[in-house]
Amino acid sequence: MTKDAITEEYLQITATVREYVEEQLQLGLFEAEVPESEQQSQYADLDLAALDADAQGCIKCGLHQGRNTVVFGVGNPNADLMFVGEAPGADEDKQGEPFVGRAGQLLTKIIEAMQLTRDDVYIANVLKCRPPGNRNPEPDEVETCSPYLLRQIELIQPKVIVTLGNFSTKMLLGTKTGITALRGKFHEYAFAEKEGHAPVVMPTYHPAYLLRNPNGKRDVWEDMQQVMTYLEQN
Ligand code: URA
Repeated sequence: MTKDAITEEYLQITATVREYVEEQLQLGLFEAEVPESEQQSQYADLDLAALDADAQGCIKCGLHQGRNTVVFGVGNPNADLMFVGEAPGADEDKQGEPFVGRAGQLLTKIIEAMQLTRDDVYIANVLKCRPPGNRNPEPDEVETCSPYLLRQIELIQPKVIVTLGNFSTKMLLGTKTGITALRGKFHEYAFAEKEGHAPVVMPTYHPAYLLRNPNGKRDVWEDMQQVMTYLEQN
């Protein structure tokens, strides 16, 4: 083999490898390892509209392949009260808005019982894209997507975050403890120090759980009464 032929073959191999890596990155099948701290700071310059625009084009995990819409979040960008659920379901994926299905209608009723509207509060999820078949979020999906939620919280600066169910509670409190043990009491936001802003967190049952277990509604209402009192006093 001549020197030129070896060089030619070498260039062809590197071009093929580059093409393969770029294709895999596009598909989100393998990701460049980015430490969590850097993932957060990559959004540090973005305001809510720019963050939303960034999320709309996100292909950082495999969920982008099955989604119809990216469900970023809705409501008052200066809300004192923020609700955080798990991930969009089929209705949310269709409409691009969190909590619009059956569980969402129950959440709307809860908000209205607090003498508020959906426009007064901010509503978001841990994941911005629907997991197929409404399966639970995978840990790597939560890790990849959570910088969006953390930046949303940093920008909105709510006084109270109500976490709905286990996923958002565990993520925002940095705990493995389940919702039943945590609900009904205010807890410290796990990222308060990093962000220099300290909302309190009230975990409560997810509205989808309440649809299956209506007896839990009394507990949720008691939790929301604590939230209302806190907001009146702070
Ligand atoms: N369940 C969630 O956790 N979020 C939604 O947006 C809808 C249902």
